Amino acid sequence: MAALGTDAKGEIDDSGIGDMDLSRLPVHVGCVMDGNGRWAGQRGLPRTEGHAAGEEALFDAIEGALVLGLRWLTVYAFSTENWRRPPDEVRFLMRFNEGILVRRRDEMHQKGVRVRFVGRRDWRVPKRLLRRIEEAEELTQDNRRLTLTFAFNYGGRVEIVDAVRALIDDGVSAARVNEQAISSRLYRPDMPDPDLVIRTSGEFRISNFLLWQLAYSELVFVDVLWPDFRRQHLFEAVREFQRRERRYGGVERPRFGR
Ligand code: FPP
Repeated sequence: MAALGTDAKGEIDDSGIGDMDLSRLPVHVGCVMDGNGRWAGQRGLPRTEGHAAGEEALFDAIEGALVLGLRWLTVYAFSTENWRRPPDEVRFLMRFNEGILVRRRDEMHQKGVRVRFVGRRDWRVPKRLLRRIEEAEELTQDNRRLTLTFAFNYGGRVEIVDAVRALIDDGVSAARVNEQAISSRLYRPDMPDPDLVIRTSGEFRISNFLLWQLAYSELVFVDVLWPDFRRQHLFEAVREFQRRERRYGGVERPRFGR
């Protein structure tokens, strides 16, 4: 397996970037990794095999992000609603995410990736997995090349509920509640809002992903199922992003950054 961001010879693999304008990249890209179950179903395999195949897609996308020079990548790995899936699948996903952390954390660390998690930690997450999460965060906390955030046991509405609870716990009066007061109480207040969100599998939904932060994100829906996603799809989505005009509710605004 090649190291992240490099080809088999250990050289930077920039194939597929082509004519992209690297001075106008999204700062933060979010990914809804959808379609693993359908991918497996098409092959007569159990749904869990689709998740397992999704690991290669995820790490190819991470390599793509490193090659491009993206600074923030957030992937939706398990939602607060995903507990409704069959118990066997939930158990598999807990072990699978734990396994990814154990298998991949050193490699990510060597490549300068800061690994973080957003989601409800004190609710239903197995203790062993929680320890792995904390270990990976601690190991990689000083890295800055790319911040890779796993949205795990994450729900956008629950995040807002938790921020409102924190406001009340902090004794903030109604008159002092504003956007800044809420933003600063989200799980990771330093995380910039995503500029671009990609959802695979041809579904046109947000499914409770980063609801507050997505207010002005550009959405790109890709037709491939997640296990078939590769860095070239990421590059294509970034090209599509570069064709969009961002206005933030105004009439005419610069297309990139704020
Ligand atoms: C939202 O769709 C999608 C997610 C919450 C991503 C789920 C991803 C996994 C379980 C696999 C993770 C894979 C890796 C490689 C870590 P939804 O199905 O929850 O929502 P919907 O019902 O609206 O489609």
